[in-house]
Amino acid sequence: MKQIQIAIDGPASSGKSTVAKIIAKDLNYTYLDTGAMYRAATYLALQHQLTAADVSEIIKLLDDYSISFGRSEDGQQLVFVGDVDVSHPIRDNEVTNNVSWVSAIPEVREKLVALQQQIAKQGGIVMDGRDIGTVVLPEAELKIFLIASVEERAQRRYKENLEKGIPTDFEILKQEIADRDYKDSHRTVSPLRPAEDSIIFDTTGVGILDVVAFIEDKVKKILDK
Ligand code: DC
Repeated sequence: MKQIQIAIDGPASSGKSTVAKIIAKDLNYTYLDTGAMYRAATYLALQHQLTAADVSEIIKLLDDYSISFGRSEDGQQLVFVGDVDVSHPIRDNEVTNNVSWVSAIPEVREKLVALQQQIAKQGGIVMDGRDIGTVVLPEAELKIFLIASVEERAQRRYKENLEKGIPTDFEILKQEIADRDYKDSHRTVSPLRPAEDSIIFDTTGVGILDVVAFIEDKVKKILDK
């Protein structure tokens, strides 16, 4: 059966990864969380006390420690830096609040984009990020750009944090999301923006399963062509 590439982009906490994971599972496609790769690079940089001035050191670290994915016994996606499982630490506030400067470094993006394109060659793929439709997979058959109000995205993240037992101040969280949106969409290299041929879907007030159904309907139409 024909396999396609599905690019799902959008701002922080717009539901991309939840939706992308379900679709990949339903279609039996590979799911690639590119944000996790930028987070892993950020984790490495912070572990070595590097700053935006240390580009060559960060690139050397990315050469020395490969970023890879695995799966836990209960089916959760795991992220590795070298052979260390960093799935949890890459979600910490420190990484979250530093990932914008690391992901704005052109040399870091060049390396990670090449890796993402390599992974996409393996067959059907659902990839989520900020520049998948514009830069990583410009030929993707289906490009979706998910948006949602800052208020709603902050509420989703707040709920997730409560469930994980992470103490969170709602107003600070909202401000952090707005700040990351601004940085992600105003950087010079590969800023967050919808590809011209992407379908923009506002998920404010829309349940995850309805978003999935909308996208899977588009997939079906492409596969039936
Ligand atoms: O999807 P996420 O929130 O885990 O992504 C973390 C950060 O990584 C995000 O603030 C911007 C960056 N990112 C990027 O620049 N390009 C991508 N394709 C994915 C993420």
